[in-house]
Amino acid sequence: MDATKLLHGVRIVPVVVVDDPSIAIPLAEALYEADLGTIEITLRTPSALDVIENIAVKLPEVVVGAGSVRAANQLTQIKNAGARFAVSPGSGQQLLDAVAKHEIPFVPGAVTASEIINLQERGYTLTKFFPAELAGGTKLLKALGAPLPEARFFPTGGITPELAMDYLALPSVTCIGGSWLTPADLLAAGDFRAITRIARETATLAGYQEFRE
Ligand code: 3PG
Repeated sequence: MDATKLLHGVRIVPVVVVDDPSIAIPLAEALYEADLGTIEITLRTPSALDVIENIAVKLPEVVVGAGSVRAANQLTQIKNAGARFAVSPGSGQQLLDAVAKHEIPFVPGAVTASEIINLQERGYTLTKFFPAELAGGTKLLKALGAPLPEARFFPTGGITPELAMDYLALPSVTCIGGSWLTPADLLAAGDFRAITRIARETATLAGYQEFRE
C-alpha cells in the first residue's frame, strides 16, 4: 500500500538505529520537539521492535514506522509493535504480497527505472531511493524524473544537512531521511538536547516546516 497519503506534508524523516528501549521516549520527544514527528526505527538491532512499541504506546502523537524491512514475516511483528508504516531498501514479491495482506503504508526501495516501473505496476508512486548519494544523488533523481514524471522519491543514504536542501528542492522528492539526525555517540551519551538542536538546525537549513492536517 502506497505511503504517499501517510507521509503527506512530512519532509524529513529521522532514520534511527537504536538498541535501547529505555531511550525510545526521550529520543522521540527530542525529535518531536524539533517538529520531526515521523520517525523510522530500523530493524537492525535486537530491541528495535521494543523501541517501536514504546513510542507507539506512550507517544501516539508521533508517527513511528519500521525501517530496513526485508522479509514478509517482519510485517506481522512491526504491526503488533504498533508501527504505522514500513520502509525497505528494496522489494521482493513475497514482501509486496505480505504488505498487500497487512494493508500497511509501505515505501519499497528502487534505484533503476525498471525497479520503479515494476513498483508502479503494483500501485507504488513513492519509492525509497537508497543509497542516495552513492547511487548518483540529485543528478540521478533528475535524470530518472524526466522519463518517469509520476515517480516520487524518499531518498536516504549519505544525506547530510548541507545536501538536504538540494534534495528537498526537487519536485520529485516527497521527503528525505537519514541517520545524521540521531548520531550514535549522542544516543549513547543520552544527549537528547543535542539531538533536538541538530534536528532544528537541519530544519532551518532546509527552510522546512512540517505540517499535518
Ligand atoms: C537507511 O536505512 O535509510 C540508511 O541507513 C540511512 O542512511 P544514512 O545512515 O547514510 O543516513
